[in-house]
Amino acid sequence: MEKNKKYYITTPIYYPSGDFHIGTCYCTLMADTIARYKRLRGYDVFFMTGTDEHGQKIEGKAKEKGVTPKEFVDESVRRAKELWEVLKISYDKYMRTTDDYHVKAVQRICQKLYDSGDIYKGEYKGLYCTPCESFWTETQLVDGKCPDCGREVKEVKEEAYFFKLSKYQDRLVKYYEEHPEFLEPEKCKNEMINNFFNKGLEDLCISRTTINWGIQVPFDPKHTVYVWLDALTNYITALGYTTDEDELFKKYWPADLHLVGKEIFRFHSIIWPAILMALDLPLPKKIFGHGWLVINGKKISKSFGNYKDPRIYINATSVDAVRYYLLKEITFGDDGNFSEELFVERTNSDLSNDLGNLVSRVTAMVEKYNNGIVVKNDELPLQDVDKELIQTAKDMVDNVENSMDNYKINEAVSEIWKLISKANKYIDLTAPWVLAKEENKDRLHQVLYNLLETIRIVAVVLQMCFVDTPSKIFEQIGVDAEDTTWDSAKQFGTLKNGTKVKKGEILFPRVEMTEELFKVEEEQEEEEDKKGIITIDELDKVEFKVGQIKQVERVPKSKKLYKLSVDVGEKEPRTIVSGIVPYYSEEELMNKQIMVVTNLKPVKLCGIESQGMLLAAGDDDVVKLLVLDNNEGTLENGTNIH
Ligand code: ME8
Repeated sequence: MEKNKKYYITTPIYYPSGDFHIGTCYCTLMADTIARYKRLRGYDVFFMTGTDEHGQKIEGKAKEKGVTPKEFVDESVRRAKELWEVLKISYDKYMRTTDDYHVKAVQRICQKLYDSGDIYKGEYKGLYCTPCESFWTETQLVDGKCPDCGREVKEVKEEAYFFKLSKYQDRLVKYYEEHPEFLEPEKCKNEMINNFFNKGLEDLCISRTTINWGIQVPFDPKHTVYVWLDALTNYITALGYTTDEDELFKKYWPADLHLVGKEIFRFHSIIWPAILMALDLPLPKKIFGHGWLVINGKKISKSFGNYKDPRIYINATSVDAVRYYLLKEITFGDDGNFSEELFVERTNSDLSNDLGNLVSRVTAMVEKYNNGIVVKNDELPLQDVDKELIQTAKDMVDNVENSMDNYKINEAVSEIWKLISKANKYIDLTAPWVLAKEENKDRLHQVLYNLLETIRIVAVVLQMCFVDTPSKIFEQIGVDAEDTTWDSAKQFGTLKNGTKVKKGEILFPRVEMTEELFKVEEEQEEEEDKKGIITIDELDKVEFKVGQIKQVERVPKSKKLYKLSVDVGEKEPRTIVSGIVPYYSEEELMNKQIMVVTNLKPVKLCGIESQGMLLAAGDDDVVKLLVLDNNEGTLENGTNIH
């Protein structure tokens, strides 16, 4: 165990200019998996993510919505954090560039670089669209015109401050040569060197006078800090750099890993190290550029609009199913396709069939053949087939460590599935049902024990990538907490004699690829966006009525949804689909008088048209229906609620 060794890992700070998509989730999930792995290995981990909240784009978006930039980013950050909660991202700090400590630290950094002569005043030349108040580069133009409004742009000059990036060219090249592990993967590094160093580095514009939503340059307040000096420095300001409260900085800097998408790799591998050199600070240990999630070859992106809220995929399956697809299906470092069909296929084959069935078959056999009691018998010699399974389990842990230590995440996950597949084959080869029939009890116990141990080891290692499944497995096979540590996965045989096994719920229900499975109601999405103040007239548009639940059915293949028949005083009861399975049993719901929104546009959920909505309070853990205080029965179904 690498006890007390520190590990500082970051994602990029994302632009909160719209909802986060599954591409944004990709980088965050990879970082989360690495962070979880390092924690399991005994490291003291600091995992940071956050948002990059200044600039012209954000200012423009806020204007469109009729809110201030701060109001706009606050709402976006609230939604981002909500998504990270759903995905169970285990970050230690969420940093925001609008936070006061960051603003002040960027100003101090700016002043320091100005005082040391690394920042100087110059002239910025750019292509400007007057109606949009935006600067563009030649390559951003569409047919030579503004990419936003399609109008002519003109070349303008503007006073600006520059960072002396060119001064650091030689030092950077020398650093790359002396630290071959600094930039990964190799192809990103080569591309960056060929495209930028061979042409020679240009100094970097770090201020603007035409962008208001930014951090003021301390020595010239009509300027605001422009993009990278504000964004990249987040990795140190969030740790307290330049303040008296810099314990985190002293403890965790330099970072062990900056995980970034390939298009921002060059900023992290050129500008960031140069800024750190200018500040006389050590450089991060590694910058890793990952590929993009694409759909039919096209990057999933806010500006292409080719994305859905990732929660749609989670709701249709589970958090762990989404995590599995992203971790396993995409070679870390390359682009990877996100396909809904393949996602369903993988969920059914790898999760439901391979892992889910293994756990349910084995726990069912232990229940059936030995009343759920584990028998450990070290006396009986092992057969070759056992030795092979045990060796595969041992190799798996070594191989996972090796892959994870080299950031080959998808390979690490594949190693776990090799063992799962071996265990399934072991069942077929040893045929416990035959042993039971033959009353070969000792061998039967031995086979079941080996299977349970394999499942335990799989679940221990899965803790690095799954957030719900390992604890469900531990519960089913009765594992003690001390047998869930990483080191315990290296020992085959820790499950105790007499442990009680209890078959639990199906880990991964199969999903059927239907048109409705991942359907988004566009209007619904837009409504979500507009969470804000409403007038009494707007409230009056909503029709609330007393309804009574007359029939309750589970929606097939859904973990959360009930199909309810609700009497709202009309000729026929309404069908309402509601995600309250985890909170109410069918009996509890029957005949309850509840509050219903009756004039909501019907939506299809899992193929069933829902003709209204029940009102409920709570969050993921607790949900309570708003039930009518009407014991005496004076209020009839269909009564209006004001
Ligand atoms: O670049 N697949 O923010 P951002 C995989 N604020 N990754 C994707 C992706 C996709 N389809 N789409 C986006 C910024 N990303 C700056 C960073 S860091 C100091 C400042 C990734 O919100 C993208 O590759 O535009 C990048 O790493 C990250 O999302 C943030 O993108």
